[in-house]
Amino acid sequence: MDIVTKAVSKTYREQDGPVIGDDDGRGIDLTVPAGSFLALMGLSGSGKSTLLNILAGIVRPTSGRVLYDSSDIWDVSDGHRSRLRAASTATVFQEYNLFDYLTVRENIALGMRLAHGRAERGAIRQALSTVGMEPHTDNRPDELSGGQRQRVAIARAVASDPHVIFADEPTGALDETNGRIVVRLLRELADAGTSVLMVTHEPEIAAAADKTLVLRDGMVDHG
Ligand SMILES: Nc1ncnc2c1ncn2[C@@H]1O[C@H](COP(=O)(O)OP(=O)(O)OP(=O)(O)O)[C@@H](O)[C@H]1O
Ligand SMILES: [Mg+2]
Repeated sequence: MDIVTKAVSKTYREQDGPVIGDDDGRGIDLTVPAGSFLALMGLSGSGKSTLLNILAGIVRPTSGRVLYDSSDIWDVSDGHRSRLRAASTATVFQEYNLFDYLTVRENIALGMRLAHGRAERGAIRQALSTVGMEPHTDNRPDELSGGQRQRVAIARAVASDPHVIFADEPTGALDETNGRIVVRLLRELADAGTSVLMVTHEPEIAAAADKTLVLRDGMVDHG
């Protein structure tokens, strides 16, 4: 699945001006081609999370379109958008967003049920083995290191078999070694055909992507 944006802009507060898009009303045109790995960089506050969340169907743009293949996700009902998101996307955040009172297996099962309404044991095991976390199936997140938690979050994303993974600073809370492990996993997923859009501050992490986009003054520099 390709994701295409057309003239996307976002203004949170009129007095602050546009966070995405420029003062002349131009917006961002972007394509995330199927199977590509794109890094999104830019200064703190430049709008990276905003842009990622607009593409992920989480933040509504002020204007413009976001196409999943031919469906404009912001021109359909909330229910329809939720279904498009569940069927095609998964998200990974800096803070993992795992449920601490559920085991690793239960966290992944919940993610699968939310995406597809079912969670088979075999698929859970497969996702955990992809990230090397099978030995920790019955642990709770608070028994794991940060790097291990992020690998579980990636397994949860993988388990829903998405076309695209949105990752907002997935290595932001990790040390160098774990950061490298996580970005290598994302690279492997992209090589296997999943698109990845990853926000990062770190050039060494962005280097794993096929291409780096830089967000500056509300617009994207195609590096
Ligand atoms: N819900 C909101 N309401 C109002 N302003 C917001 C909201 N979310 C973000 N902003 C503003 O939009 C701008 C861009 O924020 P965003 O979080 O997208 O930046 P970022 O590039 O991800 O920054 P960082 O690298 O620090 O994560 C900031 O000035 C921020 O204060
Ligand atoms: Mg951010």
